[in-house]
Amino acid sequence: MTTKDDTNRKYSSVLVDGIQKAPARSMLRAVGFEDKDFQRPQVGIASTWSQVTPCNIHINGLADEVAKGVYGVDAKPVIFNTITISDGIANGYQGMKYSLVSREVIADSVETVVGCQGFDALITLGGCDKNMPGCLIAMARLDRPSLFIYGGTIKPGKNHTDIVSVFEAVGANARGDLSEVEVIAIEKSAIPGPGSCGGMYTANTMASAIEALGMSLPGSSAQEAVSAEKRTDCQHAGQAIRWLIENNVKPSDIMTRQAFENAITVVIAFGGSTNAVLHLLAMADAVGVELTIDDFTEIGKRVPVLADLRPSGRYLMSDLIEIGGIAPLMKRLLDKGLLHGDCLTVNGKTLAENLAGVEDYPPGQKIIMPFDKPLKADSHLRILRGSLAPTGAVAKISGQEGMKFTGKARVFNSEEESMAAILSGAVVAGDVVVIRYEGPKGGPGMREMLSPTSAIMGRGLGNEVALITDGRFSGGSHGFVVGHITPEAMVGGPIAVIEDGDTIVIDAEKDEINLLVSAEEMQQRLSAWQAPEPNVKRGVLAKYAKTVGSASEGAVTDAF
Ligand code: FES
Repeated sequence: MTTKDDTNRKYSSVLVDGIQKAPARSMLRAVGFEDKDFQRPQVGIASTWSQVTPCNIHINGLADEVAKGVYGVDAKPVIFNTITISDGIANGYQGMKYSLVSREVIADSVETVVGCQGFDALITLGGCDKNMPGCLIAMARLDRPSLFIYGGTIKPGKNHTDIVSVFEAVGANARGDLSEVEVIAIEKSAIPGPGSCGGMYTANTMASAIEALGMSLPGSSAQEAVSAEKRTDCQHAGQAIRWLIENNVKPSDIMTRQAFENAITVVIAFGGSTNAVLHLLAMADAVGVELTIDDFTEIGKRVPVLADLRPSGRYLMSDLIEIGGIAPLMKRLLDKGLLHGDCLTVNGKTLAENLAGVEDYPPGQKIIMPFDKPLKADSHLRILRGSLAPTGAVAKISGQEGMKFTGKARVFNSEEESMAAILSGAVVAGDVVVIRYEGPKGGPGMREMLSPTSAIMGRGLGNEVALITDGRFSGGSHGFVVGHITPEAMVGGPIAVIEDGDTIVIDAEKDEINLLVSAEEMQQRLSAWQAPEPNVKRGVLAKYAKTVGSASEGAVTDAF
């Protein structure tokens, strides 16, 4: 590699070239720049390291590996941090209102640093639900040569447990099936170290989606956080970012409409999280690709669910890694004509080229089903509409809980109210638990309802109680659940006027969710509805509530 002046310094040259820029160079020398570094492209490395959560506790170590790889291709790495939060820790608590907000804060903060510091390229590392789409949104907005690195999945806990096992243990304790001593034993052994929650929950879903999108290196979404493969993935990022820089390949060249269709296809085939709907819509919006919730319906008609992974299935990401990860299923999808093989990826090859040499899963494996024996013949992610959700809602229907649910409304104006009722035994078979004023504006922050869904499961009511909300669900939630109901209650959507005892029909075959009251009655209730006082009036949550858009459009905050 040469150390003569590199012409690929589109942004950094403005900051460091010429005698007038001596002050900037002087400051950069103090953070480790040498003469030759001013002739190299600068690569910002956004680390989401934090002691806040096991998902990100190891990220700085990975960022150091990335930096070595970047330096090795004659570019100058500059590591900087952004924030992160943990959904697994904040769940069931008012603080969870900050979770989806953090996606925007992360996107804003990465955009702010890169926009200000003049980096020529960007590598982001993420390992938790919100920091991953946050990183992608920032890369899309900045549109400089970029790639994403997933922090990797956690190893299984004792007896194959994970974080959802702990939530469900709490529910089992509430119904008297598990002692406190047993719950604490699970608490102490379910999370054995660094890494993202181990099922096909939101982090592993988004990692798979981002790889299918072409924005991370092949195979990188199916690696354990603590593994030689993950370290190698980080080191290889240097070569990839050098290729992207030299060819001026930007996120907008990779994150195309077809690439998003690939991402949606992979999410469905792996039985991924409902949060993928929200995040992929927001990422597409950031890069200027037209994508709507109805695209999930269209693609979902032709893509089956093939992976028996938690939360609905039995296996963890670590089990999938043992049999070859996500690439063999992507190859099967490609061979079946369900993926666009000519989409470009960050290593300079097309998706089809990356998958060309991939071997199929070993015979006898039980995690990935064949096309003729799918777990579900079409998508588990259903976009429902109807009198309760005129602009859409998102349901996760594995099929195990049935395709239709009719029940009586039990209405709660917050997650806390619902939890008190579920844990006290007041929610019974045949109820549809309605949790409202939990949408992006209402909460604010669109909290996840992992605690209520886990408590319902824990009480053994998984197939007998449905839950609907204008909030959202954790990737770990399962059962008959419908979230993202829009318009949300806080803006006067029909969910705001449901009354206790109303009949609600959820029909996942027709993709409908309806409130069985007459149109006239509905109109009267909507006319009488008055918006409540906002829950929060100052600070980041109040700013978020003012700027955030509908969940059916990705809940973005910069669409004015
Ligand atoms: Fe971070 Fe689950 S809480 S991946």
